[in-house]
Amino acid sequence: MQIDTDHLHYWMQAIRQSPDPIRTLDAFWSGQLKSKEWLISSLRPHVKNFVTIDIHGGWVGVLASMLFQSVIPVKTIRSIDLDPTCEPIATMMNKKEEMVNRFSAVTSDMCDITSDADIVINTSCEHISQEQYNLWLSKVSSTSLVVLQSNNYNIPEHIRIADNLEHFKTQCDIKVLWAGELALPLYTRYMIIGQRSV
Ligand SMILES: C[S@@+](CC[C@H](N)C(=O)[O-])C[C@H]1O[C@@H](n2cnc3c(N)ncnc32)[C@H](O)[C@@H]1O
Repeated sequence: MQIDTDHLHYWMQAIRQSPDPIRTLDAFWSGQLKSKEWLISSLRPHVKNFVTIDIHGGWVGVLASMLFQSVIPVKTIRSIDLDPTCEPIATMMNKKEEMVNRFSAVTSDMCDITSDADIVINTSCEHISQEQYNLWLSKVSSTSLVVLQSNNYNIPEHIRIADNLEHFKTQCDIKVLWAGELALPLYTRYMIIGQRSV
């Protein structure tokens, strides 16, 4: 996908101004970017009109910025993350849209948020327990299109990895419209697009 120079400028500003630039750069590993590009191309056929989007575990806002620059018609994005250091970084990363009220970053536990955006994304499924996930999902509207990602990368901060795509489907417990996997050098990423069962 194409990244334009205006957005690139704000990405660099966000990294430069962040309290730990090296840590912020973790969001730009090839596997992270490829996973987000894959999310966008897989989501595209499911989106017909301009949409509102909630991203849970939105981290430093790279997915939001890529969505704004993509073929997906985006009205607004809200990016939610538990880590308070993410909010100012994500805001700078999406400064162009934040200035016209199309982007907001929120510091919160995703389990405390009720989401009824047209599209609800959670690419941090490996960072929350099954109990947290179940509570989180119960607060997502059954009319929202839900996009979930996880992986089989076994490192200490991943508290609920999936062994394979079928295992991830079981963990997610939603009506599956589309599911796939992306082989990356260090791990396999799994993705499900669907809707919460009523
Ligand atoms: C490493 S990052 C993102 C990983 C993910 N694979 C991605 O590329 O989007 C995981 C993020 O989830 C956030 N997070 C973990 N638990 C959370 C929770 N309960 N509510 C909101 N954010 C959470 C962390 O603060 C962190 O920014």
